[in-house]
Amino acid sequence: MKIEKVAVIGAGTMGSGIAGQVANAGVEVWLLDLPQDDNPNALAERGLERLRDPNAPGLLSKAQEANIHLGNTRDDFDRLAECDWIAEAVVERLDIKKDLYRRLDAVIKPGAIVTSNTSTIPIRLLVEDMPQDFRQRFAITHFFNPVRFMRLLELVRGEDTDPAVIDLLADFCEQQLGKGVVPCLDTPGFLGNRVGVFAIQCALHAAFDLGLTPLEADAIFGRPMGIPKTGVFGLYDLIGIDLMSDVVQSLVDILPESDPFHAEAARIPLMTEMIANGQTGNKGGRGFYRDGDNGREVLNLASGEYEPASRLNLPLAERAERDGAGVLLEDDGRYGEFAWRVLSRTLSYAASLIPEVGDDPVGIDDAMKLGYNWIQGPFEMLDAIGVDSFVARLERDGMSVPAYLAQAAGAGFYRAEAGRLESRQAGGQWQPIQRPPGVTRFSELRQTLAPQNSCAVASWFDLDGIALVEFHSKANALDADSMAMLADALDRVENDGMRGLIVHNDAQHFSCGVNLQCVRDFFRREDMDGLDRFLADFQQTVHRMQTADFPVVAAPVGMSIGGGFEVVLHAKQVICHANSVTGLVESLVGVVPGGGGCKETLYRWIELLGCSDDISEACWKAFMNLGYGKTATSPLIARRQAMLRPNDRYLINRDRLLDEAIAAIDDPSGQAPFLRPELSLPGRPLFEEMVQWLEQSRDKGMFMPHDVNVGSEMARIVTGGDVDPGTTWSEQDFYDAERRSFLALVATEQTRTRINTMLDEGSPVRN
Ligand code: NAI
Repeated sequence: MKIEKVAVIGAGTMGSGIAGQVANAGVEVWLLDLPQDDNPNALAERGLERLRDPNAPGLLSKAQEANIHLGNTRDDFDRLAECDWIAEAVVERLDIKKDLYRRLDAVIKPGAIVTSNTSTIPIRLLVEDMPQDFRQRFAITHFFNPVRFMRLLELVRGEDTDPAVIDLLADFCEQQLGKGVVPCLDTPGFLGNRVGVFAIQCALHAAFDLGLTPLEADAIFGRPMGIPKTGVFGLYDLIGIDLMSDVVQSLVDILPESDPFHAEAARIPLMTEMIANGQTGNKGGRGFYRDGDNGREVLNLASGEYEPASRLNLPLAERAERDGAGVLLEDDGRYGEFAWRVLSRTLSYAASLIPEVGDDPVGIDDAMKLGYNWIQGPFEMLDAIGVDSFVARLERDGMSVPAYLAQAAGAGFYRAEAGRLESRQAGGQWQPIQRPPGVTRFSELRQTLAPQNSCAVASWFDLDGIALVEFHSKANALDADSMAMLADALDRVENDGMRGLIVHNDAQHFSCGVNLQCVRDFFRREDMDGLDRFLADFQQTVHRMQTADFPVVAAPVGMSIGGGFEVVLHAKQVICHANSVTGLVESLVGVVPGGGGCKETLYRWIELLGCSDDISEACWKAFMNLGYGKTATSPLIARRQAMLRPNDRYLINRDRLLDEAIAAIDDPSGQAPFLRPELSLPGRPLFEEMVQWLEQSRDKGMFMPHDVNVGSEMARIVTGGDVDPGTTWSEQDFYDAERRSFLALVATEQTRTRINTMLDEGSPVRN
């Protein structure tokens, strides 16, 4: 059987998200909700509206909407007879779900699969009244919100579920929906929420007990621990303080009394008051944080008043972010105590769940990485901190040491053995980590390889004759050393007859651009020649990617913006993730793309529009992309914005990028040469027209004064600036023009202010 038509019942947060991802896969889907009086499909329509949210678009592009049929459970229930998989995502009420399954059993076709998205109800209870045939084709598919972006799918098998049903769902969700499928047993909270909510509760109670402010707690229980920067209080606000309290309560209800979760679940009086006052978090406009008239404010937990949330500069947090969470545990102040309390309890708790929830650490680690966006899972963190010192400290503190943790002393939970990564099983034996065919995570593979060359910010590896360049600085920001590493790999492929080059990493983001700190260092030293050389080297290196006589593939995930996108723009083929975000956002910080980005944007628009004779329209398009710092939130949108070329491809599952990139190196058909002929420029008249448009827009209040300066430099590059119409420029002329404009802007106070505020305050000033 194949899954060719899907139905999702319940068009709320989760149901609409699931339907959206099915549509993204190019599969037809019915989205049904309860009928409404005036407009029977109103709730399903609202579900589709949710997918259109520009801040978290659930669809790759508008075209995917054609795969979604909207309906209701009164008029369209018979449609379910056509569907191969019916995913239930109605409210978390056992009676409602059971009632629905009884109705479903009467209409669905033989062999059709039914799943629930329940977070807390055991399968056993869901299907207790259903016939055996229904139970065999029933499972839990637990997606995470937002469905398009969260990689985790917990796939829970009931006692009666047919293994073939699990296999089919696993394949479909992995290959077509792009999820990291983690098989789970029918245990409370499965894996992600069991550990994730425990960790959040630990951090919450520890912060209150130790008297940390929300800002302090989030500064520690955040990036320094490899956890998203929302931390604990920010996450409570994001999810909703009321909703999060319900989630905690539902775990209290289903976990056995002996579970350590109960000790972390006590209600905090202030939070009960906050919920009653409507301080429910972001959706209520205020929670632990709120946007005040003069910027972000934070709740004083003692007084209940909001105060300015000024940025905390904690050197300890910075060191931990760079060198790992272990650094926090060396601190003998309050922050160290907070970190130890959270980590000691959370990591021990995770270890205590084995073997109850599964025999090996990979499931829990995957669940936390893919469902909670942790950089490392609990067992990977334990390995990084050092199991022995961790256990010794637990013992010193009189805390119990779970058997699985004690057993790992001296050896840890993961090891590289004979070129493979292995994990420690509950019984103590080692087993290679199994991933589906076609799935390779570079974060795992790299642990079994020695780099050919490596520095603090980048490395390159030899994958059986293919050079793989990995950036690994903070946010993968690029500097001279990153580019030197790329150049070194290019040299070696060229000189040693290697088969090709891939630029890839398995981090959250491919690269957030050139490291602004290094730009600031240049202007603080007034070393404009040094800055010019840095840009020229950058240009030459990416130019070598584009003109190489061997295959060059960029396989980016997450954000590739600014200089990071300029690297991608010069690969002969891009194989990116469906959720890749791309764009040249330099204008925000008052500069132009100086690494070939302006040049590529112009040439690509000429190609897309097919207008090589009169390039004026392409100049306008390029000018708009660059000036507005446009980003594309999917490869389909990127293609329409001339950011990707026709030979570039995208994959819905990011774990498949590396294998596809390797295959692409040996398949020359994917490599499109760059034809970059000399261009006849529109020159002065168009340049002046653009500057005039900028000035008029400023006068109408649409732009700030310095936007006009930055925009004018972009106009100068794409039109040729103050030259006669018909003047011809080569690619090198564009590179030179980019550098001239970059330097001219960096010489201005306004650009320096933008860069300084970006670095010091986290966002650029509008000036
Ligand atoms: P929601 O409240 O946003 O949406 C539920 C939808 O179900 C509503 O549109 C409602 O009108 C509809 N509905 C209720 N009874 C129905 C019926 N008999 N037939 C058809 N539609 C019906 O809820 P949400 O958050 O989408 O949750 C859905 C399920 O997913 C729940 O089981 C929840 O536990 C689970 N879940 C929720 C997550 C979240 O972050 N919100 C994460 C993972 C799982």
